[in-house]
Amino acid sequence: MMKDFIKRSIKKISKLTGEQIEDLFIDAAEEIDRLETVLESLGEGILVCDTKHSLVLANKCAERFIPITVSTLGSDPLWSRIWDERIADFLEATLKSGDRVEDREFNVEAGIQRLLSISVLPLVREHRVTGSLIYIEDITEKRGREARLRRAENLASLTTLAAGVAHEIKNPLGSISIHIQLMQKALEANRGLMARGAANTEGLDQLDKYIAVVNEEIDRLNHIVVDFLFAVRPMNLDLREGNINVLIGELMEFMGFELSGASIVCNLELEEGLPLLKFDERYLKQALLNLVKNAAAAMPGGGKLTVKTGRKDNEAFISVMDTGLGIPEENLSKIFEPYFTTKATGSGLGLTLVFKIIREHQGEISVKSREGEGTSFTISLPVPQRERRLIGFEGDFEGDIEKEKSSDRGEGAS
Ligand SMILES: Nc1ncnc2c1ncn2[C@@H]1O[C@H](COP(=O)(O)OP(=O)(O)O)[C@@H](O)[C@H]1O
Ligand SMILES: [Mg+2]
Repeated sequence: MMKDFIKRSIKKISKLTGEQIEDLFIDAAEEIDRLETVLESLGEGILVCDTKHSLVLANKCAERFIPITVSTLGSDPLWSRIWDERIADFLEATLKSGDRVEDREFNVEAGIQRLLSISVLPLVREHRVTGSLIYIEDITEKRGREARLRRAENLASLTTLAAGVAHEIKNPLGSISIHIQLMQKALEANRGLMARGAANTEGLDQLDKYIAVVNEEIDRLNHIVVDFLFAVRPMNLDLREGNINVLIGELMEFMGFELSGASIVCNLELEEGLPLLKFDERYLKQALLNLVKNAAAAMPGGGKLTVKTGRKDNEAFISVMDTGLGIPEENLSKIFEPYFTTKATGSGLGLTLVFKIIREHQGEISVKSREGEGTSFTISLPVPQRERRLIGFEGDFEGDIEKEKSSDRGEGAS
């Protein structure tokens, strides 16, 4: 690397001729030029601070994204140069705490409304924090694209749902229509008997039965419509910070009687010290309840139900595992579809709702299954920013701030 070459040359600088030193300067200048060109042509804003939080480098993009005073590179802290109060406050708090924060979003007014995503990363060299890198991305368009995609996706799923509803209501409607015809015939027959003075209650009993069937079918229709509305209604999540282990404990207590009655042994593997997550208690409970009920239904002769929680990087996960019948390969891709069911009296909306609830929480759900062995559903939920800890960060953004070295020798991260 160029940098190494220069370092090596500097070591033996006393032995170099004036011409060689001149060449070296030209090379170094070219190298700096190249790096500057790269920095200036980036579509992202870059700010670099030393360990005293003084600005040592800013590219054009950063200046364009957030109004900032860079005319004089002095020792005053970065936040005092930033005009936007919220961004300044955020940078002050983050830099002072030494935390690593990714993708914090800010709305800024710069002629037009812009959505910025700001990350603060410690610069680490040789296991020592040598400053901070602030990375600014304009995500206005990305967000717009995502929203459009989501709308299209929602529309598509609405179409499948509507098609499902149409299909579902056909049967009860058909049955109602048949029974009304039967009622008409029974009424006519009864009228004939009445005319001949031979009316009996048998014909009326028959009518009662038909009316009972019609009522049942209307009930079914009502259920379909109510379930449908439940599945498509926009959810107004009431997100609050909470402990998912507590929620699972409550749910399992609630289900305990039913599960032990079905010879199902419950096994909880809840990781201690999970970060608090943001979720809607009612909805998340509903989602887990659906998974537990499905698991129980897959173990008609009893079995073992395991609910496990854990954390990996910036996600927490909840797994619901059963030792039941499993899901045949060809059904795996269909189980989240509305109205897909293999049960005689299933609604086929359980997993559709689970999917929707998890998506609304910015989470994901996946399934693994083996026929005859069992099934496991795993939900992952994002850990809120504040709960993320500073993770060892080295390598990717090795600091190259020569300036800092001389001014801050011997100082650690503050
Ligand atoms: N734990 C499980 N084990 C085996 N099959 C499952 C499990 N969970 C879901 N399924 C399959 O997915 C289908 C859809 O589930 P769901 O949407 O909850 O509707 P429903 O329970 O009303 O059938 C079920 O009918 C079943 O075939
Ligand atoms: Mg179900």
